[in-house]
Amino acid sequence: MDKNKPFVGGIVYQIYPRSFKDSNGDGIGDLPGIVSKLDYVKSLGIDIIWLSPVYPTPNADFGYDISDYKAINPELGTMEDMDRLILEARKRGIRIVMDLVVNHTSDEHPWFLASKDPNSPYHDYYIYKRGKKPGVPPNNWSSNFGGPAWEYIPELDEWYLHLFSKKQPDLNWRNPKVLEEVESILRFWLDKGIYGFRCDVINQIYKESFDDGKWKPWLIGQEHYLMKEGNHLILKRLHDDVFAHYDCMTVGETYDVDFENAKRFLDGELDLVFQFDTMNADKFIVPIFVRKHWQPAFKKSLIGWEGAVDWNAVYLENHDQKRSVSRFGSPGFHSLSAKMLGTLLLTLRGTPFIYQGEEIGMVDYPLFKKKEYQDPVNFWLYGLLRRIGFSDNRCLKFVDNMNRDHARIPMQWDETAAAGFSSNQATWLPVHPNHREINVAKEEIDGESILNYYRKLIALRKKDGALTYGSFEPVKTNSRIFAFYRRYEGKTRFVLLNLTARKVGLPKQIRSLRGEVLLSNYEGAGLTYKKFLRPYEALIAEIR
Ligand code: GLC
Ligand code: CA
Repeated sequence: MDKNKPFVGGIVYQIYPRSFKDSNGDGIGDLPGIVSKLDYVKSLGIDIIWLSPVYPTPNADFGYDISDYKAINPELGTMEDMDRLILEARKRGIRIVMDLVVNHTSDEHPWFLASKDPNSPYHDYYIYKRGKKPGVPPNNWSSNFGGPAWEYIPELDEWYLHLFSKKQPDLNWRNPKVLEEVESILRFWLDKGIYGFRCDVINQIYKESFDDGKWKPWLIGQEHYLMKEGNHLILKRLHDDVFAHYDCMTVGETYDVDFENAKRFLDGELDLVFQFDTMNADKFIVPIFVRKHWQPAFKKSLIGWEGAVDWNAVYLENHDQKRSVSRFGSPGFHSLSAKMLGTLLLTLRGTPFIYQGEEIGMVDYPLFKKKEYQDPVNFWLYGLLRRIGFSDNRCLKFVDNMNRDHARIPMQWDETAAAGFSSNQATWLPVHPNHREINVAKEEIDGESILNYYRKLIALRKKDGALTYGSFEPVKTNSRIFAFYRRYEGKTRFVLLNLTARKVGLPKQIRSLRGEVLLSNYEGAGLTYKKFLRPYEALIAEIR
């Protein structure tokens, strides 16, 4: 942990541009919209904004399918808007991190269009293979977005690999030209004043072999491309060639990463990694099955990661996950549970990532109708479950358990028709009907709101060396309670959380603690002589 790095003491706020703020009334969020909300972001105490992709895209995966890496999606604005965003953010002391999606491009990227000519140098930018026999793909790998991971091109009599949708062909990282191209993209943006990248599915870019994968109910083939030696070598190379020469940060989206690989990534390859264990705490077998008693796995994952690496990337939400209050909190205790989760997010050791709307306690959309779907995964999954024979309602419910549209509905700014997100009521995803109760404007004027609690939490963390840089020392308790110390330069902070909606008694070693509460989601909460925790009670105390 290097205290001089801005991301170490800093707080990151993720913006999903299509859903943050629409400035021109087309129902889609955009860059001028973001600029108009920079003062709001600043008012939270944010240091770094991570922007989900803003590059031109045919929207097969809403920007995670890029057709030009050095330009701006006209739906979101122009390059001048982007330059203005970087500048206006900088004026406010905020740095901008962009999304780097280089496992694949869009199938509409000029490289891919050219690649269909077998004699073009671009053919080798992608992964083309002959089928096992006519009509049979090169191997049995499955795509993250359903079905086989290969698509046939009759003119070539070859198949190309796509670990996501067929509109997202995988790049061939064995080709040194691909590395050169990516380095040029990185320099282009870093030279513009960007503070680094969130690197999309970056632990699977190097395919080590193309053998058949072992059968599993989900994602066959992963053992051949997740976190292979070649992957580490590429990241090291990008680091040494490019990142090491800039004041910047990198955070890897490292699906299913284990401790060993994480340590390697963090040793001279990437600055931070996102682990997935916490996000899997309420899932079992496949992501459509939900576990009610998620607390044990949830706690175990966080304690495990805090112990395993020196500095974590801490998150409870992003654009791929359902809302944390809906998963780990409860509607009956909306404000209390959102504040409890916020307390956890901002007191763990590591860089906290807040996802837009998390700071006001945005919740999942009520059950989406099929005609409201935007996430491409939903259509595939719905169709598959329907073919298996589930009823329409059952399909909708299963899809709902992993529907990424929940996180992507418009940000709730105020109580007007389109939630202050747009002047147009026809927004690209529907506005949550609860935007009249849950919105920024309302929470601004309520001293007890989730929003103002986040502001207090962030301010407290930032002025408190122990909460920022302190050690992490968990206290053994049952799985309903999460308790830990943060110690630094002779100061001790104690964080105590009730992960449930029930009152829970405190174990003896906690009951004997004496200290002063610095912040709590319950008014007048104390620590000394405390015998139990109320529903979702959270507190941060200074131990004397
Ligand atoms: C990452 C992104 C997700 C995207 C996928 C393919 O998981 O977070 O939104 O669909 O990669 O790029
Ligand atoms: Ca717009």
